[in-house]
Amino acid sequence: MEHRHLGRSGLKVSEIAYGNWLTHGSQVEEEAALACVAAALDEGITTFDTADVYALTKAEEVMGKALHGIRRESLEICTKVFWPTGGGPNDRGLSRKHIMESAHNSLRRLQTDYIDLYQAHRYDHETPLEETLRAFDDLVRQGKVLYIGVSEWRAEEIAAAVKIAGQLGLDRIVSNQPQYNMIWRVIESDVIPLCEREGIGQIVWSPIAQGVLTGKYLPGAAPPDGSRATDERGSGFITHFLTEEILAKVQQLRPAAEQAGLTLAQLAVAWTLQNPNVSAAIIGATRPEQVRENVRASGVTLSAETMTELDKILGDSVVTDPAYTSSPRSRP
Ligand SMILES: NC(=O)c1ccc[n+]([C@@H]2O[C@H](COP(=O)([O-])OP(=O)(O)OC[C@H]3O[C@@H](n4cnc5c(N)ncnc54)[C@H](OP(=O)(O)O)[C@@H]3O)[C@@H](O)[C@H]2O)c1
Repeated sequence: MEHRHLGRSGLKVSEIAYGNWLTHGSQVEEEAALACVAAALDEGITTFDTADVYALTKAEEVMGKALHGIRRESLEICTKVFWPTGGGPNDRGLSRKHIMESAHNSLRRLQTDYIDLYQAHRYDHETPLEETLRAFDDLVRQGKVLYIGVSEWRAEEIAAAVKIAGQLGLDRIVSNQPQYNMIWRVIESDVIPLCEREGIGQIVWSPIAQGVLTGKYLPGAAPPDGSRATDERGSGFITHFLTEEILAKVQQLRPAAEQAGLTLAQLAVAWTLQNPNVSAAIIGATRPEQVRENVRASGVTLSAETMTELDKILGDSVVTDPAYTSSPRSRP
């Protein structure tokens, strides 16, 4: 497993990270969750991503249990705050109150004294940015959080945060966590150029488009049993990728993958890592074999011919409009 700097910070992360959205505490039983984390550790993954909201706080508990007893210095534990974790008006968003309360609850569930990377899961249009950044900065000064980042923020929102942090001497954002894969490239035009200038790295999510880029969803066929597309809670998130056009094009990627000596899943993860502004790709898994397969994308260089061939096949199925990066106008 290779490591990369998280943006311009001194922190190194495994270029393939492991995340537990929709899986731990939800789609998979605890035994499978623990087996996936064990496989990730065994394969050299050191960076683990979760969020307070995943499985309504249960995912953090499972992650905490899975990582318990592992030498803390050998791990980078990342979590997030923003989406609702309770029914009250202050159980959500990026107010000082919710950030402080959520951070303490995450520390308890994750069974750790500090969070390596604490991320604002979306932009909060109802809280002054200065309030959010000061709360994050206080957590850093208290040693409860080591680095701060954001997720799915627009270029102008990241730029505003960098400016305020500079003016007020507050801790700076070192990362952004956007969706990024061969089909979903909405960060390329605005977010990446800004982040390159500001030394902010991308920790990208859904590098295999939730399983679609593995080629296991076939055009004209029902989704395989036991996949995210058949999971009660996961299916709603994956449907927009399950069009006949996309599924047919994914099958056409097979020769390029074979020529590169990779499976389609490995090709998809490796594709995200070709972008030098990407610090890590976060993979999800329901079985340890998936982790073991996907980590083989670490250290792979794809040729310029392969990259061009992939673009040619995917054509206008690729989504590039930066307007798709957005946060709720009011708190969810
Ligand atoms: N910041 C955000 O807003 C945000 C949003 C979403 C995710 N994330 C982060 O990104 C992480 C990864 O997201 P993701 O789970 O969508 O990533 P992904 O790696 O694109 O998809 C993972 C899913 O694909 C299937 N899969 C994985 N490897 C496979 C293989 N080799 N063969 C066949 N199927 C395979 C598995 O689902 P099945 O076996 O069920 O089909 C697995 O759960 C999350 O855990 C979370 O940490 C962040």
